[in-house]
Amino acid sequence: MKRALISGITGQDGSFLAEFLLAKGYVVHGIVRRASTFNTERLDSIYSDPHESGARLFLHYGDVTDGAGFRRVLEKAQPDELYNLAAQSHVRVSFDQAEYTADVVATGTLRILEAVRDYAAVGKSIRVYQAGSSEMYGAAKPPQSESTPFYPRSPYAASKVAAYWYAVNYREAYGLFVSNGILFNHESPRRGETFVTRKITRALTRIQCGLQEKLYLGNLDAKRDWGYAGDYVEAMWLMLQQPSADDWVVATGESHSVREFLDVAAGYCGLDWKKHVEEDPRYFRPTEADFLLGDASKARSKLGWAPRISFDGLVRMMIEHDRDLACQEQTLTAAGHKVVRRGISHPRTL
Ligand code: NAP
Ligand code: GDD
Repeated sequence: MKRALISGITGQDGSFLAEFLLAKGYVVHGIVRRASTFNTERLDSIYSDPHESGARLFLHYGDVTDGAGFRRVLEKAQPDELYNLAAQSHVRVSFDQAEYTADVVATGTLRILEAVRDYAAVGKSIRVYQAGSSEMYGAAKPPQSESTPFYPRSPYAASKVAAYWYAVNYREAYGLFVSNGILFNHESPRRGETFVTRKITRALTRIQCGLQEKLYLGNLDAKRDWGYAGDYVEAMWLMLQQPSADDWVVATGESHSVREFLDVAAGYCGLDWKKHVEEDPRYFRPTEADFLLGDASKARSKLGWAPRISFDGLVRMMIEHDRDLACQEQTLTAAGHKVVRRGISHPRTL
């Protein structure tokens, strides 16, 4: 059985990747941050007690800001493949927490690569996936491919660029198998609620159910190449099955503005979003990546990868999921239960 270690396993991508690898027969180890509340909700459907026979998913406390702890997990997990997905992944938040973002995203990657380098020096080789981002292109002219020069526009993006180059350097300097995936935005019903797609689908379905009236947003003109997260984790895995390490753009090749996302999502809710959406300057970024559009021809031809879910299918999937949540909330409220109101105007909706 192959063994994988995933940092960031509790996130959107980590949970999809864990499912994908378990279905392929892997033993999967994941790194979980200690929190005062449970943060493993996305793994609930695949987690079983490690005492049960046949358990193949194992979680370890860790943090990529703690190199010594990470090395101990590496020794325990003994992985063939390591997927570094851990990140402070919110671009707007990275302007408020720039140093922390750099510590996790850039130096966190370096700590992992150093551990892998030492591990390789004693004859244990691992294939590493490094989670790069289309944000690294920032202001670069679209369409963006592996040969497009980076032009990061946020502390998050600059940190991802540093992590990208650490990965390239460790590949060239020490012969490590480290592949950079340069993934364009990918979403799902598991997307964090502070990212624009999920913020929109949560709010519009709540508005449809009479649970809220307004949705406050920032830049509606930004364009993103949005795909489905479930499709993208397969590309991560394919990168590590290649004969040699490389850098890969993963994208749909279609870009839509936030406004267009609103049009389609509101269409599924039978709403006119213009009656509900208001602009709030706090959601604008000091510098923005205006237009991201990926050219994934290399991944298509060499990995044989292609997205399965269309933009329209993605929006519909998210709306249907969030409508169920809103209906549950509506039913509880109507029955007199107090439901904690989530969403509008709370800082976490950045
Ligand atoms: P996400 O939902 O925000 O998940 C991030 C994960 O990293 C969570 O498990 C989080 O733990 C963990 N994490 C944060 N800080 C950490 C630390 N100091 N030590 C260890 N773990 C830490 O992000 P995602 O959407 O799944 O994205 C996965 C990776 O791909 C990230 O590196 C992201 O930057 C990158 N990426 C994402 C996209 C996208 O569109 N989704 C596109 C390109 C690249 P908690 O659950 O405890 O917070
Ligand atoms: N989050 C958020 N909230 N974004 C908003 C809002 C709002 O209220 N209003 C408009 N936007 C715009 C942002 O300015 C941005 O242009 C776009 O919506 C998408 O924002 P996010 O969903 O926060 O994603 P992102 O593109 O900044 O970053 C995501 O994708 C990257 C890949 O390109 C994250 O997942 C990153 O971790 C990832 O690397």
